[in-house]
Amino acid sequence: MLVASLKRPSPKKILDLACGSGDVSLLLQKNFPTAEVIALDFCRPLLERAKARGVRQTVEGDALNLPFPGQTMDAVTLAFGLRNFADRPKGLSEIHRVLQPGGIFALLEFSPPPFPWKFFWNFYLFHFMPWVAQLLTRHGDSFRYLARSISEFPAPSALCHELHEAGLKLLFTRSMSLGLVRLTVCRKLP
Ligand SMILES: C[S@@+](CC[C@H](N)C(=O)[O-])C[C@H]1O[C@@H](n2cnc3c(N)ncnc32)[C@H](O)[C@@H]1O
Repeated sequence: MLVASLKRPSPKKILDLACGSGDVSLLLQKNFPTAEVIALDFCRPLLERAKARGVRQTVEGDALNLPFPGQTMDAVTLAFGLRNFADRPKGLSEIHRVLQPGGIFALLEFSPPPFPWKFFWNFYLFHFMPWVAQLLTRHGDSFRYLARSISEFPAPSALCHELHEAGLKLLFTRSMSLGLVRLTVCRKLP
């Protein structure tokens, strides 16, 4: 659905921010074979893995200080990365800066479900998941960090306000995976 949200008009230059090991970049390359897809992350080992998996163009860089001139991207994608940004408004303003006027920003991120599901979700995130992770991998703390970052992420209405403040106009937002993940698609105002 993230890829479909970029299809009209078909972008020529796409930046996949916080690309990790390249899942989204690979999908973009496959769906937009003539487009230039740039995969950016600040973690070199993940970029090397992305390259080994077939991502053609990787850039080591910080999403909070993008190494690109303004108004150069037709679309920016960001999957499960905004939650980890040390300065979210700065990250959003950088996305706005590099987008062409009318360019699309497609964001995929965890989204805490509303009450009463939030209660079960919090139990699963903060107790059950770290407990299982500790048993299986001895990395319960990493899952506690994940739980905290998900629960501290703004609710959809607050996020829309932040996007608006950054000059990104909401086109649509869609809840996915039983409401645990949300796709948010915006356009840079001309
Ligand atoms: C959960 S991973 C998501 C990876 C990928 N987008 C995916 O969906 O599989 C989050 C990624 O964000 C990257 N990241 C976090 N903050 C960043 C920043 N300021 N600049 C660049 N990359 C960042 C991390 O290195 C990590 O690869």
